[in-house]
Amino acid sequence: MRDAAALAADADVWGPYASYDDVARFEYGRRMWRLAEMRERLLTNWLDERHPHRERFLEHRALVEEVLNSEESVAALDAKLRQRGTTLRCLSREIPVVFGQWFETREPGRAAPIADAAKPNEYSLVRLRSGAHSVHARSYAETMHPGIGPAAEAEALYVRQTGLIERLRAHHGEFVIWDIGLGAGANALTALRQTEALDASLRLISFDSTDAPLRFASGHPAELPYLRGYEQEVARLIETRHVRFRRGAQRVDWTLNIADFPALLQSPAAATWPRPHLILFDPFSPARNPAMWTRPLLAQLYRLLDPARPCLLPTYSRSTQVRVTLLLAGFWVGTGRATGRKEETTVAANRPE
Ligand SMILES: C[S@@+](CC[C@H](N)C(=O)[O-])C[C@H]1O[C@@H](n2cnc3c(N)ncnc32)[C@H](O)[C@@H]1O
Repeated sequence: MRDAAALAADADVWGPYASYDDVARFEYGRRMWRLAEMRERLLTNWLDERHPHRERFLEHRALVEEVLNSEESVAALDAKLRQRGTTLRCLSREIPVVFGQWFETREPGRAAPIADAAKPNEYSLVRLRSGAHSVHARSYAETMHPGIGPAAEAEALYVRQTGLIERLRAHHGEFVIWDIGLGAGANALTALRQTEALDASLRLISFDSTDAPLRFASGHPAELPYLRGYEQEVARLIETRHVRFRRGAQRVDWTLNIADFPALLQSPAAATWPRPHLILFDPFSPARNPAMWTRPLLAQLYRLLDPARPCLLPTYSRSTQVRVTLLLAGFWVGTGRATGRKEETTVAANRPE
């Protein structure tokens, strides 16, 4: 906390009757923000769907983060903000409060919570504004496909915008899809369903640290209709981690790898996976699931692609940080189509076309 003399010197910034609440939010906020572990916990708290100021934080997030990242003096920072039509006093009030009830402590060094199937009520069904249902993961405090719902988002983001049907029609031989973050299976099953009329061979390789969300989802086909008609195949996949089946002319070979993906990607096994033509990249958000969005992970993913095999990697994130990380990892990066509440998403590729 600043002493009285320093506060007096900052009177122009905080006003003649400085609110210690404004000063504390800024001063403590900036100090905590410098610690990576604390930064992640703050973001987790502020982005929690229960946080009443979540939307407001999202609206002002870039500027709030800039202020928390700043190194300048209070006066210099305030002068900079005034040039942009605001003040440090106003901005400090946009730093959200922290709700202690879910500001949980993590073991040092543990990057992100792993959804734990053994926890009671780890997964639940939520009804979205669109009327569709989706699966909520309690450890991450995040809902899968929270915008327009699982099947609609999977179709818009991973099937239609990638031109999957047209690509499969023109494709000869096996078409390989890596499904990173299988979760409740919406992306994988929507891709299969949307292409089931085609005479095509699909090799689907799914990855997740747990099969618990898929187990949970398979108990709710009434609310999650994208599962209907695939009950037996999903049950077999969960049971044996591999299933092979035919639907009309479509041939499917589906494998499930249960492991921590960043670790698995570094293992010798990764070199043996068939190279993908399409990657359904769908971890939880970078704020909640940072280990899945690092530059080393994306760079390793890029290295595993076959340069002679065009591969697309669509993802729902439109954040500049994610796009820059993809670029630094070696990908070409473009703007993806809108889905639900997001006016744009991101498509990365290993080739410019
Ligand atoms: C948003 S959900 C995926 C939703 C899914 N694609 C669907 O369509 O239902 C993100 C998934 O990423 C998985 N995940 C998060 N961190 C992981 C890690 N380190 N390794 C493997 N999977 C991880 C989570 O367990 C979760 O199932």
